[in-house]
Amino acid sequence: MSTPHIGAKKGDFAKTVLMPGDPLRAKYIAENYLTDTRLVNEVRGMLGYTGSYHGKRVSVMASGMGIPSMGIYSYELFRFFDVDNIIRIGTAGAISEKLKLRDVVLVMSSATNSNFAAQYRLPGTPAPTADYALLKKADDKARQYGKTVSVGSVFCSDTFYDDANSLEQWKKLGILAIEMESAALYFNAARTGKKALCICTISDCPLTGESCSAEERQTTFNDMIRIALECVE
Ligand code: HPA
Repeated sequence: MSTPHIGAKKGDFAKTVLMPGDPLRAKYIAENYLTDTRLVNEVRGMLGYTGSYHGKRVSVMASGMGIPSMGIYSYELFRFFDVDNIIRIGTAGAISEKLKLRDVVLVMSSATNSNFAAQYRLPGTPAPTADYALLKKADDKARQYGKTVSVGSVFCSDTFYDDANSLEQWKKLGILAIEMESAALYFNAARTGKKALCICTISDCPLTGESCSAEERQTTFNDMIRIALECVE
């Protein structure tokens, strides 16, 4: 049964789906890390693959950029394709001075300026949060590789180009980094009773203007991919 945005059948996806933002990164992961790989979605070019990693079945599909796109794909995967775990693997801009280019952040919680949660009509402010077991496993695996990771909150923004320049305000609250998809993923996981984790590599520092080269992005992505793949059960 296809959904409006995913042209696959029930059973085409594994229980765990890794979600980079970029479809070509999904292809890269499928081609370089998975075996017995099959293309399961190409609607709108949002490439999705299912294969095996060290004998464990796993899928990788792009989320696109921003909360609405991640909102659509993660909802359909959780609700209509029986996916239990989604691990976003993306990039983020550093807000904390403690973070450097290429550092990895495990997103424990996600502050947001998005109106996504208005749909739940809550009498207060919800806190989009990672699944603790997934977060702990990713932290443990990273340590085993000798990769230092930071664990904390990010700011999930609706805007990449922002007129208000509010990053200093978020910095005062101890927010580590800025990205654009984690809140939608965590809200959908909470609403559907499923599990989610967002892992980010720092690709730029908006407050200083530093950024990674395309080549650096590729190699540092590999640390994050390995951590995410090792979380698959
Ligand atoms: N802003 C928002 N999202 C991002 C950034 C950024 O600076 N870098 C990587 N993802």
